[in-house]
Amino acid sequence: MKKKVLLMGASGSGKTSMRSLIFSNNPASLTSRLGATIDVEQNHVRFLGDLILNLWDCGGQDAFMDSYLSLQQSTIFQHVGVLIYVFEVETRSMPKDLEYYRSCLDALRRYSPDAAVFLLVHKMDLARGSRPAVLARKTQELRDASGGADVTVFGTSIYDESLYKAWSRIVHILIPNASVLSRHLTTLATACSATEVVLFERTTFLVIATSTPSPAPPANGAEPEPAADPHMLAPTRYERTSELIKAFKHACARSREEFRALEMELAEFSAVLDELTKNTYVLIVVHDPTIETAALRMNIRLARKKFE
Ligand code: GTP
Repeated sequence: MKKKVLLMGASGSGKTSMRSLIFSNNPASLTSRLGATIDVEQNHVRFLGDLILNLWDCGGQDAFMDSYLSLQQSTIFQHVGVLIYVFEVETRSMPKDLEYYRSCLDALRRYSPDAAVFLLVHKMDLARGSRPAVLARKTQELRDASGGADVTVFGTSIYDESLYKAWSRIVHILIPNASVLSRHLTTLATACSATEVVLFERTTFLVIATSTPSPAPPANGAEPEPAADPHMLAPTRYERTSELIKAFKHACARSREEFRALEMELAEFSAVLDELTKNTYVLIVVHDPTIETAALRMNIRLARKKFE
């Protein structure tokens, strides 16, 4: 099963950087060495075994954009599952960016009317002023420019976990059986008396599903209140874990060790992260001190058949 994902936005907005961070496991510090993308760079990323993301990284220089919107229009915009449009948070070329964005949206509606649209307000680390306020203002600006189209806006930066959150949500809508996975994870969580069970994709470490249903993204693009969380756990815990595990895998690679699994036993909680299937890792977090991590590992072993 193939899903076409278009990655578009002005030149230098950070498209290739985020692709290399999420899919090629490069650290953020290396992205400054990336050259401008010439025309379209196509990548096939195997995700969860049989789902293949056909990622089109569209170079953002004006000449390329003009060509996507004229000669190449049908090639670029047909069969699209998701359009991700990247805007730099602080840019002087916003009017031009919005003009290109609107033209792309028109072309998308013509050739792929069912495609989902995600807008990333990127390089949030460079935002001048309070980040939530800047994001709210940008979100409104983008909604106004979208002419009533259904769009989801995220604030992102390659220097923190926000990029994982956005990309986890994006791939989530491409996974056909995500709700079934969530149900199985809830069963596993109950069997382990776990606070929560989380499923990650193996190479990207993006979150695929969790035992607790994720709250719907708020309509105004603002962050959910921590109090809305059922276990009073940090609302950023999933993407923080993705980011930390990715960094840990780097550290392992640097010391020529292979990352296999992780086990933590602390006073407050214990956690086991282990391979569940060929393409996934599962994390089980338990706050009950009477439950041994060995039992969690055994439950993971027993659950494998169900998930394969
Ligand atoms: P084209 O290929 O020309 O379309 O550009 P692009 O959108 O692919 O931009 P690219 O990924 O090459 O990034 C341009 C620069 O932005 C690089 O020097 C990155 O290091 C930097 N960059 C990317 N993401 C971020 C971010 O979140 N914060 C900051 N401060 N810089 C970023």
